[in-house]
Amino acid sequence: MKATLCKITYGTPEDFVPSRFAPSPKLPVRTLSPDSVPEITFSVSLRGCRLTLPLTAQTKIYGFGLQLNAFDHRGNKVTCRVNADPRSASGDSHAPVPFFVTNEGWGLYADTARSAVFQCGSDLNTGRSSLPETGETAVMTDTAELYRARTSEASVLTLEIPFASGVDLYFIKGDTVLDIVSAYNLLAGGGCMPPLWGLGNFYRCCGQFREEQVLETADDFRSLDLPCDTLGLEPGWHSHSYSCSFVWSERFPHHKAMLDRLAALGFKVNLWEHAFTNPAAPFYDKMIPFSGEYLVWNGLVPDFSLPGAEELFSSYHKTLCDEGVSGFKLDECDGSDFTGGWSFPDCARFPSGMDGEQYHHLFGTLYARTIKKALGSRRTLSEIRNLGALAAPYPFVLYSDLYDFGNFLTGVVNSGFSGLLWAPELRHAASKSDLIRRLQLTAFSAHSLINAWYMEKMPWLEFDATDEVRRILRLRMSFLPYLYTAFYDYHTEGKPPVRALVCDYPDADGISDEYLFGDLLVAPIAPEQDGREVWLPDGVWYGFFDGRRYEGGVHSVSTNDIPLYVKEGTLLPLADPVSHVDPDTVFDITLLPFGDCSDAVCRLIEDDGMTDGADCRVITLRQGEHPACKRYRIKP
Ligand code: GAL
Repeated sequence: MKATLCKITYGTPEDFVPSRFAPSPKLPVRTLSPDSVPEITFSVSLRGCRLTLPLTAQTKIYGFGLQLNAFDHRGNKVTCRVNADPRSASGDSHAPVPFFVTNEGWGLYADTARSAVFQCGSDLNTGRSSLPETGETAVMTDTAELYRARTSEASVLTLEIPFASGVDLYFIKGDTVLDIVSAYNLLAGGGCMPPLWGLGNFYRCCGQFREEQVLETADDFRSLDLPCDTLGLEPGWHSHSYSCSFVWSERFPHHKAMLDRLAALGFKVNLWEHAFTNPAAPFYDKMIPFSGEYLVWNGLVPDFSLPGAEELFSSYHKTLCDEGVSGFKLDECDGSDFTGGWSFPDCARFPSGMDGEQYHHLFGTLYARTIKKALGSRRTLSEIRNLGALAAPYPFVLYSDLYDFGNFLTGVVNSGFSGLLWAPELRHAASKSDLIRRLQLTAFSAHSLINAWYMEKMPWLEFDATDEVRRILRLRMSFLPYLYTAFYDYHTEGKPPVRALVCDYPDADGISDEYLFGDLLVAPIAPEQDGREVWLPDGVWYGFFDGRRYEGGVHSVSTNDIPLYVKEGTLLPLADPVSHVDPDTVFDITLLPFGDCSDAVCRLIEDDGMTDGADCRVITLRQGEHPACKRYRIKP
């Protein structure tokens, strides 16, 4: 382990904190007393508790969960508040996480389910006068200059946790950002391991569809030769949605036959829902005592921290899984102050003793845990709209109703800092370029998701772009074995499969629009653009599509493809694309060498691809080797 982790307890921590519900850590946790860390101050007041930590003038701060509007938070006030409509760099997020990592070899996780506020750099009044920074005596009129964050040596990070009179801080030291982030993920129990099919393409059907239209969509995917593993059904599958009954509606009179037919075509099925339980739900009455004080859309809000609620909900969902459902999209477990305030108030009381603020921070993670229980050992990769701290082990990917390309790319870059996965989903498009650029980003993210929930037709048909779309979806399938290995590393070592460049390359501390996919460098081009400037870390890189050789530095690139770079000495396993993954799929693999690969090693993971705890073998390949294995056929 290249990082060390210490737990320091300040005051009296609250009862309801993320670690209470998390799996066991997969790394040693050392305990330190606050006295051994004099640099950190702690105090309690009627406002809650407060800690300060010193920063240097150069400290950069990354993390805080799924942040769509900022990369380096230095100088910002970050309020880790759950919000489904995060439109500024305030810290509000579908999935805020009180964890950050710096560029200076340390990171910090505050184990709280409160809307903690991190003031990321302010100066303390030390009682001594100090000379102004060089250059600040001149009269400034430029507002950007006037309001810019000052980064003096006396700067501190201030963390305020409302209501709490104490907190456990987990302090992680490591050589690189990647070491620290990986240690945070191991503290959570390690990253999730999706099924192989979960890394294929997802298509969510129009919410109005009846079963025959879903089947037509399935046939269209196969007849158009568009690779797709999973079809999602949106609210219309329920007899009542908003709130949900979890009972099939009259639109799906033969739902079992439909599931069987889809399975025969090689499709998995994923059902949309939220947890707000409608009176028409079969377990409604039994859920009443396990639910919060307030209704949402006339539905109960189950308190999933209670074994009774978890058992009722998961055993019911198990019957859906037994019928052939492979996952669920867990919507609206975030809540918003800006779009109608439809969720429960922060002061709501829950039967476990939690209040609404705490439950907002734990809702998604506990909901994911409940659904995971319903699935048993069957793996899934599903979607969710809220997660919190220590959520890496849950195979759920975040998504949003927001749709700005820049926000979506920032989400891809940032999510890996905090044990989260993010889907920059494709919905409608304003033009062919918009469609293609968005789909490229989606295909090179953790979750290749097309969410056509309000579209009767596949979104590319109006642009006559089926051929281009097929090419991108097939490309995704080519990377499946590679991505599966990346997820295995997430699961065992905590290394995020998709992450910011600065995780691996310290010099990339200002690069917020490129990222690593496995170990490949991706620099997406925005809609309506033909090219962009790409920064490559020191060393030699090769363009994936044209094999062109690049040195580290900035390059002007123009291409219809997504700019994708492979590091010198990489033996890349590329699969012949399949339309979907079956339990017995065998991938035909080409080992593509980039540069001198005489010492290169390529790893592939072989297991049953779909069951937790299945026997697993790491296959190590070198150039020119063609060992026999069940899951892969290495091409000569
Ligand atoms: C939204 C969700 C969308 C879609 C829609 C269906 O809350 O973000 O992706 O599922 O509900 O009503």
